[in-house]
Amino acid sequence: MRSFLGRDILSLKDFERNEFFRVFQVADDLKPHARDRRNTDLLKHKTLVTAFYQPSTRTRLATEAAMLRLGGSVLGFSDAKMTRAGDFYQESIKDTVHMLEYYGDVIAMRHFQQGAPHEAARWSSVPVINCGDGWGEHPTQVLIDLYTIHQEMGRLDGLKVLCVGDMRMRTMHSILYAMSQFDMEAFVVSPPEMSLLPEFKAELDALSVRYREVAAAEEVIGEADVIYMEPVVQPDYTKSRDERAGDVGLTPAAYKITRQLLRERGKSSAIVLHSLPRMDELTTDVDPTRHARYWTEAFNGVVVRMALLALVLGAVE
Ligand code: CP
Repeated sequence: MRSFLGRDILSLKDFERNEFFRVFQVADDLKPHARDRRNTDLLKHKTLVTAFYQPSTRTRLATEAAMLRLGGSVLGFSDAKMTRAGDFYQESIKDTVHMLEYYGDVIAMRHFQQGAPHEAARWSSVPVINCGDGWGEHPTQVLIDLYTIHQEMGRLDGLKVLCVGDMRMRTMHSILYAMSQFDMEAFVVSPPEMSLLPEFKAELDALSVRYREVAAAEEVIGEADVIYMEPVVQPDYTKSRDERAGDVGLTPAAYKITRQLLRERGKSSAIVLHSLPRMDELTTDVDPTRHARYWTEAFNGVVVRMALLALVLGAVE
């Protein structure tokens, strides 16, 4: 297995099967610190820099919480408008990163431009973690999601996953890449204008990912072990910020998961994951059911990021 020490976490396309399990193992080992709200000093001499050029609640705060749980320090920005990258100068990624690399030992970056964290990694002497890049990928989120599925179902191989939502979405790209390493099958449900792009499908074919495009969730929900969701009513992820202007519309029934649909058509054992935030595609009446796992996913958001920080900073092998 390749070492994680000093490694950039940019994509799941190049993640190997045993590397997923190594992250899960370290997450299991570190979980008691998060569960018991008991910080450790594993990274007490290290500093995380968060560089967020797009809004975030979960990813930035969970990454910061993970660093603090491990005894490290945190600094950064959550709005590029407060930096020279977001004002008159429009400072480049290269110049910005050549500053940030001296302020900390690892950089967690979210950006509206696909490939921006890759560009940062090109210039940075410290590891860069992609926390979402435009419509590109969201590798840490999907490591959390697969960890949650593995924890809840006891396995990844042999599972059928119903992916519902906007297939241009970065989580969908990362999870479909990741499935190449497991004996998993995906049902893909999205509005036609948000479907998988031909070039992405060609990549999935080259990676031998098994997926089938289906018109509506209700057609295949009875076969799904895992329901993996994203909104179809959502902002433009290529913008630094996309304000809501007026009525944004409602999610068509084909792309919605409700308690009634789960009760009438779903597997009794099916679990629902959603990285959040949600609109109306996942109705709140699912929250109290045994199917909901998105709050577990949220907790695991800290745990898995603790594992990643510990691995790339060399606190564990
Ligand atoms: N799931 C996720 O990426 O949430 P945030 O946009 O709040 O970070």
